[in-house]
Amino acid sequence: MTCHLETDADPAMDLPPSVKPWRESVHGKSAVGCFHCHGGDPTLEDDEEAMSGRRGFVGVPPAEFFPGLCGRCHAGALREVRAGAHPGMTENPAVGTNCTECHGYHEIRRR
Ligand code: HEC
Ligand code: HEC
Ligand code: HEC
Repeated sequence: MTCHLETDADPAMDLPPSVKPWRESVHGKSAVGCFHCHGGDPTLEDDEEAMSGRRGFVGVPPAEFFPGLCGRCHAGALREVRAGAHPGMTENPAVGTNCTECHGYHEIRRR
């Protein structure tokens, strides 16, 4: 399975709307793939098995996952967020610790 990405080789197939913003994001350019955030196993041929709970597929991650999900790779930022010391939190305390409220998710750019 190619995690939706090679589908643009086939113009008859619609790309899911998440692909374009992701591809232009800092993650798309840094080899952080769909499966890093959504789970699943993109090396499997069988789509159903690749996107199964057995393979760790989480579908759309619920909001309470975000700090830990993002923090797996951004440990420093997670520590700052937990300490209330991350940029933006002091100007915007109402947002809390939800990374995606401030950064978005598919379209994340370098700041
Ligand atoms: C950096 C982490 C990350 C990456 C990489 C990522 N996603 Fe997502 N995606 C999320 C999060 C977080 C949400 C849920 C956001 C919400 O509901 O607030 C989401 C939501 C979605 C949704 C639900 C619809 C929507 O847009 O909210 C789809 C479909 C989706 N992602 C597909 C993909 C595909 C396909 C890729 C790869 C091309 C991808 N995602 C890459 C984090 C990511
Ligand atoms: C209240 C808004 C807000 C929240 C919540 C937030 N961020 Fe940020 N984050 C920012 C802003 C604003 C910057 C840019 C700082 C700058 O440009 O000086 C930033 C910068 C970053 C950076 C790059 C600089 C650095 O410190 O490494 C990373 C990575 C990052 N955030 C990850 C995260 C993660 C992961 C979470 C959740 C655990 C999170 N952020 C939550 C607003 C936020
Ligand atoms: C699998 C690891 C991984 C996951 C999961 C992940 N990221 Fe990233 N992220 C990276 C890499 C790699 C980069 C690009 C290299 C760098 O600048 O650190 C990056 C870059 C960023 C940047 C830009 C940093 C800068 O220097 O300006 C932000 C902001 C960011 N990520 C936020 C998030 C948020 C929010 C989530 C959760 C929705 C998330 N990341 C999930 C690996 C990850």
